Amino acid sequence: MLQHDVLIVGSGLAGMRAALEVSQDPGIDVAILTKVHPLRSHSGAAQGGIAASLGNSSDDDSWELHMYDTVKGGDFLVDQNAAEILGREAPENIFELEHMGCAFSRMDDGRIAQRRFGGHTAPRAVYAADRTGHALLTVLFEQLLKRGVKVYSEWYALDLVIRDNTCQGLVAYDILSGGIEAIQAKAVMFATGGYGRTFRITTNAFASTGDGVVMAYRAGIPLQDMEFVQFHPTGLQGSGILLSEAARGEGAHLVNAQGKRFMEDYAPGRMELAPRDIVARAEQSEIDAGRGVTEKGDSVFMDLRPIGEQRIRYALPSVMHLARDFVGLDPIQDPIPIQPTAHYSMGGIPCDVDGQVRLKDQDDAPITGFYAAGECSCVSVHGANRLGTNSLLEAVVFGRRTGRAIRDQVRDLAPTSISEGEMQPAVAEVDRFIRGDGSESVGAIRADLRDVMMDKCGVFREAGQLQECLSDVKDLQARFAKSRIDDRGTIFNTDLLDAIELGHMLEFSEVITVGAINRTESRGGHARRDYPTRDDEQWFKHTLAYRDDDGPRLTYSAVNMAPRHREAYPPEERKY
Ligand code: FUM
Repeated sequence: MLQHDVLIVGSGLAGMRAALEVSQDPGIDVAILTKVHPLRSHSGAAQGGIAASLGNSSDDDSWELHMYDTVKGGDFLVDQNAAEILGREAPENIFELEHMGCAFSRMDDGRIAQRRFGGHTAPRAVYAADRTGHALLTVLFEQLLKRGVKVYSEWYALDLVIRDNTCQGLVAYDILSGGIEAIQAKAVMFATGGYGRTFRITTNAFASTGDGVVMAYRAGIPLQDMEFVQFHPTGLQGSGILLSEAARGEGAHLVNAQGKRFMEDYAPGRMELAPRDIVARAEQSEIDAGRGVTEKGDSVFMDLRPIGEQRIRYALPSVMHLARDFVGLDPIQDPIPIQPTAHYSMGGIPCDVDGQVRLKDQDDAPITGFYAAGECSCVSVHGANRLGTNSLLEAVVFGRRTGRAIRDQVRDLAPTSISEGEMQPAVAEVDRFIRGDGSESVGAIRADLRDVMMDKCGVFREAGQLQECLSDVKDLQARFAKSRIDDRGTIFNTDLLDAIELGHMLEFSEVITVGAINRTESRGGHARRDYPTRDDEQWFKHTLAYRDDDGPRLTYSAVNMAPRHREAYPPEERKY
C-alpha cells in the first residue's frame, strides 16, 4: 500500500501551486498524481492572460473594481467572499510568479504589460504573449523539481475513498504497468480540471473529462452549479480550437456575412469585449438568423487585420500559427471563421475559500481531509459565467490558499486506511472492460454523447430539447453498460482509459442536463429560450446535485453575500 501525508490529483496550475505551498514544510510528505505529464496539463492551453489590478496600463484600477467586474460578469451568482479574495490577492500572486521566473510580456519602461479582456473595465490581463498558461506551467514545474516533489506521472485516479465524512485516500491505476494501487493520504486535494470534452466543439484537451468531479459525486458529495458551462466565442470553425480572446483585446473585430460588426446590436458599450456568454450568444444568434459565414454558415469572422502585422506577430503568435496550421488562413491577410466552443466549467466540487470540500447544504459539513481547487472545484468565484483571465488567477490564488490550509492542518489529521473492500469498485470497473464481452463501441457512444450535448444543451437551451437530451443521455448510459474495448492488455491501455472517462462523461452530463432543465431562467452561461430573463426571486441560488439511485437529486444553497472588506454588490441589471 502506498502512503503519503498529502496527495494532490492533477498537475495543472492549481495542483502544482498547492504542492509548492505544502512542500515549504519539509516534514510533510506530498505527492502529485496525474494522468498526463505535468507539462501537458490543460492549464497550458490558456493563452491570453491572467488578471490582476496592477494598474500598469491604466491609473483606474483597483481590487474592488476587479471584484465588481467578476461579480457582474458572473451574473451575480458569484460568492462574493471568494470574488473579494480573488481581486485582493491577485497582485501578490503575480509578483510571486514573476519572482519565480515567469517571463511576462513587458511595457517599454520595463513594467509588466497588461491588456484588455472581455468584461474587465480596465486593461488587467498580465500575459506572456499568447502562451501565458504554458509559461506559468513551466515555471511551477521547475519549482516542483527543485523541491523534489514526488510525481506519479501517467497514473489515473479511479476512486476516491471517503468513510464517515473523512477522506482516506484513493485507488489509482498505473497506466504504464496496469497495476491498481490504493494510496492512503491524510489529505487529498483534487485539481483535476473541467468537463468540457462532453461537447462536440470544445477548446478542451482530451484529458478534460470531469474525472475528479465524478469521483467526488460517486463518493456522496453534491456537485454545484453544473449547468453553467462557458462557450468561448472564438473557437476555430469546425474544431473549436481556441483562438485567444486576447485577439479581441488587441483590437480584432467580429463580423457577420454582411460585413457588419454585429456586436453593436448586442453590447454597444463593450462591443467585442463584452463577457463571453454575451458574445457567444450574439454569434449564435447571427448564425441562427442566416448571417453566418463559410459554406456551412455555422460561423462568423474574426478579423485581426485592424491590429496590424507587427503587433500580431509580437502579441498573438499562437493565434497566427493555429489559424495557419488548422484552417490554412493567415490572420495577417484574412478574416478567420470562428464559432462558439465549449471552454470552461463553472460548476464542480463545492468548497470554501481555503479549498476545504464542504457539502454546502444546511449544515455545510466539511469532508475531513478532502480539498479541491481550480476548474474541478466550485468555490464559486465565477458564478454563472467566468471572465477571461480569471481562471489562471483562480488556479494560483486558490491553489496557493488550499496548499497553505493543507500545510497548516495535515498534522492534526488522523492516519487513514483503505480496505480491500474499498478497492473493489475500482477493481471491478477495470475488470468489466478487460474481461467483459459487451458489444457496443466506446468510441461510437462518446461521439453520440458529444453531439447530443452540443446540439441539445449548448449555447441556447429550451425545455423540449433538454428533455430529449436527458433521455438521449440515459439511452447512452444503457448502451455504455453493454460496451466493450478492443485492447485487453495491461501496458498503456488507452482503450481502457477512454472507457472509464466515457463513464464519467455520461454521469456528469446527466447532472448538467437535469440542472439545466430545472433552472427555469437565463443567467450567464445558462441561456433558456423559453425563460429568457434572469429571475432573482426564484433563482438567486446555487444548484447542488446529489447522486441518487435514479439520478441526480437537486437541492439549492444561498449565494454568499458577505465579503469581509467591503459591502456586497447587490444584483443589478447586467448591461454592457
Ligand atoms: O481566450 C483566452 O485566451 C482564454 C483565456 C481564459 O479562458 O481565461
